Amino acid sequence: MPVIPRSAIGARFIGWGTALPEKVVTNEELSKTMDTTDEWIRERTGIERRHIGGTTASLSIESGRKAIQMAGIDPLSIDALVLSTTTPDRTVPATSAAVQHGLGLRCGAFDVNAACSGFVYALVTGHGLIAMGMKRVLVIGTDTLSRITDWTDRNTAILFADGSGAAVIEAVSGPGQLMGWDFDADGSLEELLYAEIGGTLHMDGKEVFRRAVRIMVDSAEKSLKASGLTANEIDLVVPHQANVRIIEAACKRLDIPMSKTAIVLQETGNTSSASIPLALFDAVANSRVKSGDNVLLVGFGAGMTAASAVIKWNQS
Ligand code: ACO
Repeated sequence: MPVIPRSAIGARFIGWGTALPEKVVTNEELSKTMDTTDEWIRERTGIERRHIGGTTASLSIESGRKAIQMAGIDPLSIDALVLSTTTPDRTVPATSAAVQHGLGLRCGAFDVNAACSGFVYALVTGHGLIAMGMKRVLVIGTDTLSRITDWTDRNTAILFADGSGAAVIEAVSGPGQLMGWDFDADGSLEELLYAEIGGTLHMDGKEVFRRAVRIMVDSAEKSLKASGLTANEIDLVVPHQANVRIIEAACKRLDIPMSKTAIVLQETGNTSSASIPLALFDAVANSRVKSGDNVLLVGFGAGMTAASAVIKWNQS
């Protein structure tokens, strides 16, 4: 479990933005093309509708532009772009290249792929770059899972969707917002959830469910320990938005009430890398987060990866 050195240069969010495609597909619409019902999808997952469309670059440029505008900074002052995605637009080059060009940045840019844990991986990596001397980093989480979904497969098509969330983080003079973090992966479980290059997603849903709860709890506990906090000191949990029942089971084990969770999956479905920033910035927009609040971000995904981070909101 990594402990952040006291001497490390800290960072905090100075701007953020999200993007969702205009096209909305409801459960009702899915039930017209496959053997499922709105009731089943709501009860088993909590999802009611999802947004479909766009490319990973186009959604990233939209959310990234909003984050830069909110920060009120010159794009040329950004030192690095870290894009989390498991659905790049091309095999080569990294999609971050197109996003860097589209946003008018002149800086290093690279993709991170850790499936649905990816945004937390990218965010912690961004903090690491700042600890190493950079001043501003743009972190984006975007996925267009609809492009790798088999729309005739009711096991997966009811879950996956498209979206993006972005944040500019900036170096500060104090400890900054990141208090503790954890990364995990177990490649021996690769077959539980995968898509071949050019293929569609295959998933053993039951097994992913079972393991997801366990690894989310384990990772969250490690981040809590690293940050020196207990679960009841957390003001808001922002979990990966895969299935509300997974979130309920994980929160029960962590002894955190559901009233402290940020949930948008009823509107967004599972947007992988975008799900945590979409839920976080929705909670911020709805005044559910105030200065000094302790926010726990926790994701899990294919690989099987897990990642978590404890953020003290607005701490410089
Ligand atoms: N509509 C109607 N019935 C369905 C559907 C559907 N879409 N899917 C399955 N069923 C049926 C099954 O055939 C089964 O019928 P039976 O009892 O007659 O055999 C019954 O419903 C129950 O099926 P289960 O698979 O047991 O359903 P479960 O409650 O496990 O829910 C689900 C399935 C939603 C996929 C759940 O297992 C899940 O959410 N798993 C985790 C998936 C996940 O989070 N993946 C993302 C990981 S993150 C990343 O990296 C992208």
